[in-house]
Amino acid sequence: MATATAHARILFVDQSGELGGGELALLPVAVHYRERSAVVLLQDGPFRTRLEAAGVKVHLLADARVSGVRKTGALMGILRAGWPVFRQVRALAELARDYDLIYLNTQKAFVLGTLARIFVRKPVVWFLHDILSRDHFGRLQLRIVRTLAPFSDVTIVNSEAVADSLRTLTGRPDAPLELAYNGIDPTPFDLTVNTQRRALRAAIGVPTDAWCIGLFSRLAHWKGQHVLLEAVSQLLLGEHGALERRAFGGAGDRGNRSTERPARLPEIHVVFVGAALFGEDDYAARLRDVVARHGLQPRVHFVGFQDDIPAWMAAMDVIVHTSVAPEPFGRVVVEGMLAGKPVIAARAGGVTEIIEDHVTGLLTPPGDAPALSRALALLRRDPESAREFAQRGREVARRRFSETAYLEVVDTAIERALERAAAKTQVFPEQV
Ligand code: UDP
Ligand code: GLC
Repeated sequence: MATATAHARILFVDQSGELGGGELALLPVAVHYRERSAVVLLQDGPFRTRLEAAGVKVHLLADARVSGVRKTGALMGILRAGWPVFRQVRALAELARDYDLIYLNTQKAFVLGTLARIFVRKPVVWFLHDILSRDHFGRLQLRIVRTLAPFSDVTIVNSEAVADSLRTLTGRPDAPLELAYNGIDPTPFDLTVNTQRRALRAAIGVPTDAWCIGLFSRLAHWKGQHVLLEAVSQLLLGEHGALERRAFGGAGDRGNRSTERPARLPEIHVVFVGAALFGEDDYAARLRDVVARHGLQPRVHFVGFQDDIPAWMAAMDVIVHTSVAPEPFGRVVVEGMLAGKPVIAARAGGVTEIIEDHVTGLLTPPGDAPALSRALALLRRDPESAREFAQRGREVARRRFSETAYLEVVDTAIERALERAAAKTQVFPEQV
């Protein structure tokens, strides 16, 4: 770890109290710096509890009017939040006086933190976790980020895909950015035991010998849970004929071209691990409704948000990632690899920097249910290949996505921002 930053007092800012990927990515960094630093959250939630349990000091600056502004929100919504935003900016600036550096971890944090510098001159590190495109943001939000981007002293991105989106948005193809792939500790994935697998399966009604497909993600349309439902329906139709055809609203057993005998096949089950964290409750309700309408409850399980991801992953036979918009990074993909499972992921965004197709996993076009169905069928048909992908995936994930490497990049970025600020102080001492 670089020495210049060892004693740095850092004020981390994150807009969410939920345990999203951006927040889970901040956790080890905040823990690493916890002695002289603090995290500001703009919303309360389980993330605060998790930080505090890890010994991290948390300041809550919550205001529902500011949290209510969505990343695709319209101008009116933003204007209505004008005064509360101003108050939060002032409060943030006040807090920041006691710190050496502000580390902004989400879009709203970036906007508020950058504005806070009008009142307090502190170096800023911006960790950009999102692909800045119309798939993910409203026009206005993109314009705001484009305007403020140059005010970040050092910007960290979680993938090349995110870097490209920022360079395209700002029109600065050479903008220097630090690349920090999420680092994930493999230890909890190594410690899972078979009894846990059996217990978790039993708890949700999945037989021990069932072929179990796990999708680990918050329920949100862009995460594409519906694609897996569609893919699995195709898979089941092909193999089980009448039963599954009826289950999906079809008629009779014609068209079952499978040569395998259904009675001999282990059942296919699907487990959705995750909850609608950021206001996508309608989508979650629609998914459940489709499952219920087709009588699929015995095969499709919604287990909600879970803390023990390594244990749940260990209970699966294959892990699937289905985002229909480019995934900025995709922690779940790395976690699936660390769990030693074959992973099928959507070929877009940061995921293409994680998985090498047919080497460390399988990639399918985003939103392409038939292709996903074929990839699933391939892994079932060919357990030897599935095992090879899983094994290589695990090795590569351990090597390329270590927490140490991740913290080193973040540390260097912080050091660089502090050095730049120090250099400016020497040149223009009266202005800082
Ligand atoms: N996750 C979790 N519990 C759940 C579902 C997901 O802890 O029930 C975690 C998952 O293990 C991963 C993170 O949430 O670390 C999601 O991060 P990812 O980068 O995959 O997607 P994001 O939600 O940040 O877009
Ligand atoms: C964001 C992205 C996700 C990424 C995570 C951590 O939540 O949506 O793809 O893995 O940040 O960087």
